[in-house]
Amino acid sequence: MRKILVTGANGQLGWELGQLAASYPQYEFVFTDRSVLDLSKPDTLDAIINNIAPDAIINTAAYTAVDKAESEKELAQAVNVQSVEKMAAIAHQRKIPFITFSTDYVFTGNATTPYTTDTALAPLNFYGSTKADGERLAIAANPNTIIIRTSWVFSTHGNNFVKSMIRFMKERDVLNIVSDQKGRPTYAKDLADATMKMIVALDNGQAIKGIYHYANKGETTWYEYCKKIQSIVGLTCQVNSILTVDFPTPAKRPGYSVLDTDKIEKELSITIPHWENSLVECINKLS
Ligand SMILES: NC(=O)c1ccc[n+]([C@@H]2O[C@H](COP(=O)([O-])OP(=O)(O)OC[C@H]3O[C@@H](n4cnc5c(N)ncnc54)[C@H](OP(=O)(O)O)[C@@H]3O)[C@@H](O)[C@H]2O)c1
Repeated sequence: MRKILVTGANGQLGWELGQLAASYPQYEFVFTDRSVLDLSKPDTLDAIINNIAPDAIINTAAYTAVDKAESEKELAQAVNVQSVEKMAAIAHQRKIPFITFSTDYVFTGNATTPYTTDTALAPLNFYGSTKADGERLAIAANPNTIIIRTSWVFSTHGNNFVKSMIRFMKERDVLNIVSDQKGRPTYAKDLADATMKMIVALDNGQAIKGIYHYANKGETTWYEYCKKIQSIVGLTCQVNSILTVDFPTPAKRPGYSVLDTDKIEKELSITIPHWENSLVECINKLS
């Protein structure tokens, strides 16, 4: 394996992969954004990808605007379903690895124990249903497809909860944050690390395919997460805990989103950092 095509170069995960590229001199990375590879146009992908002639595809691009997806259904489907299916099929034809990412939002949100990679899918919003359909169609088009589901992604780059909360706590005296949704925050840098370990394992002939979960160790609520950000940064804003019913959004949110990551830890022999340690690392970089 030599040439790795990465989509979504300007997203949180795509950008973190870009930061790691120099640590993997054995690979030539081709980072693309929507100006090169537009996932809203699945029919254009064949020609462009075959022209790049990659030896592996890592698809980090996605339609990730969870609330907007409820009203931009066709666009969300083109990016998260048709284009993912198309890339899986291209990878199958070229006999190359295809890694794509999915979400905790493919699950019901009302479990009480962590979701394993075998848990049945029952998305509760349109974004989640596009990611679930993308998973199913990619695996049907290419049984070697690798899907890594993740949750609550943050990074120094792009838009995310950590950066929004720091901004809000600096601008406002009072902040209301939901305390009845539970999940595992994920530092995009840690996920990028694990993804590259997966590429190296594939390159070494390890049999890896199907569904994996990756999220940082530990679980929390948005409220506790916000309080942790506040204490690390040292801000004095008053943070109140509220319930989901008091914070209506166009797309429903899962109450319980905790992913079980045993499979990826065992198969890649990795230790996943605790979210609080990765949060400190991210905030230190931001400042
Ligand atoms: N963010 C989370 O909390 C979260 C949670 C669970 C799962 N995930 C999944 O994890 C993966 C990585 O997420 P992320 O946080 O890195 O997402 P992100 O920061 O929102 O980045 C997504 C990237 O996709 C690109 N994109 C959107 N539409 C496109 C199109 N039509 N053509 C080409 N590129 C397009 C965006 O381009 P622009 O920069 O030009 O807009 C952006 O760079 C995704 O599969 C996502 O669904 C994310």
